[in-house]
Amino acid sequence: MLLLLALACDDHTFTPVSGGEPVVGSSFADVETIFEGSCLGCHSAAASLGALDLETDPCGAIVDVPSAAYDGTLVVPGDSANSVLWHKVADTGTYGGVMPQGAALAAESITTIADWIDAGASCDDAGTTPTDTTTDTTPTGPNYSYQIVQETVFDARCTSCHYPGSTAGTDVDLTHAIDLVGLTSTQAGGLYGDLVLIDPGAPETSLMMLKVLGVENVGPVNLGSAMPQYSDPLPTDQTVSLFGWILEGAL
Ligand code: HEC
Ligand code: HEC
Repeated sequence: MLLLLALACDDHTFTPVSGGEPVVGSSFADVETIFEGSCLGCHSAAASLGALDLETDPCGAIVDVPSAAYDGTLVVPGDSANSVLWHKVADTGTYGGVMPQGAALAAESITTIADWIDAGASCDDAGTTPTDTTTDTTPTGPNYSYQIVQETVFDARCTSCHYPGSTAGTDVDLTHAIDLVGLTSTQAGGLYGDLVLIDPGAPETSLMMLKVLGVENVGPVNLGSAMPQYSDPLPTDQTVSLFGWILEGAL
């Protein structure tokens, strides 16, 4: 899988992903509501994973725009079945994994996206000022504290293999993951040289995040298995908690 990770800018704002509220409709405003609720955690101006920024100009970023990673167009007006974006949210497997990563939108929301595309993918409803993002959607977002990430991600899904003296084939101890902040893989007893495990403020270059996202290569370095190994990927809210914690400085 070819993966283009755009570097985050200095502005560490982070939009939480809410678990996928069903959005019924077919206008671009409805589609934007879906993006704001379920996509901006990874596809914002500050952190555009997969080289996709759905925040700055969401319509201009997708309509008639070639995919960065796949042989196809993100949104073909009038033709959802030929739109990479629809395939990814509908999890057809034609163009890599499902979006949002590790989870799925509510069926109603997937239909909303298909209906908007099939009706011509008009951007008329694209407001220049996102109306309700500042007050309404942020307060109930996930918690990015270290304590939450250690308990819900590392303790729940990782320390069965990543414990001190593990025989699972890794010496990287995640029972107190905050001790790893800023360390390179080698310093932590790992296999990936000078890649930094947890780079505060930069999840998109942190080995920990890249392994959880299933990124296969960084430059010439092959990153081996996706984490957690031999197991289902983390659900989106946990992925986003980890991402948000690192983005906000891994405190
Ligand atoms: C937890 C992080 C995360 C979330 C949330 C997320 N994405 Fe992604 N997205 C990625 C990553 C990583 C990639 C690159 C890997 C790939 O193509 O599968 C990507 C790639 C994509 C691509 C392909 C871009 C291209 O040009 O090839 C599309 C389209 C996309 N995402 C749409 C969405 C939509 C729509 C949502 C919300 C419904 C969403 N994503 C939510 C992480 C995420
Ligand atoms: C079933 C066992 C298992 C589980 C569960 C597991 N890992 Fe791993 N992990 C490994 C093994 C084995 C390696 C070494 C081989 C590799 O890199 O693929 C490794 C390597 C890593 C590395 C690279 C360390 C380095 O520098 O060499 C990171 C980062 C990592 N895991 C993170 C995680 C995270 C985060 C989780 C939980 C979300 C997790 N792992 C769950 C077995 C596991």
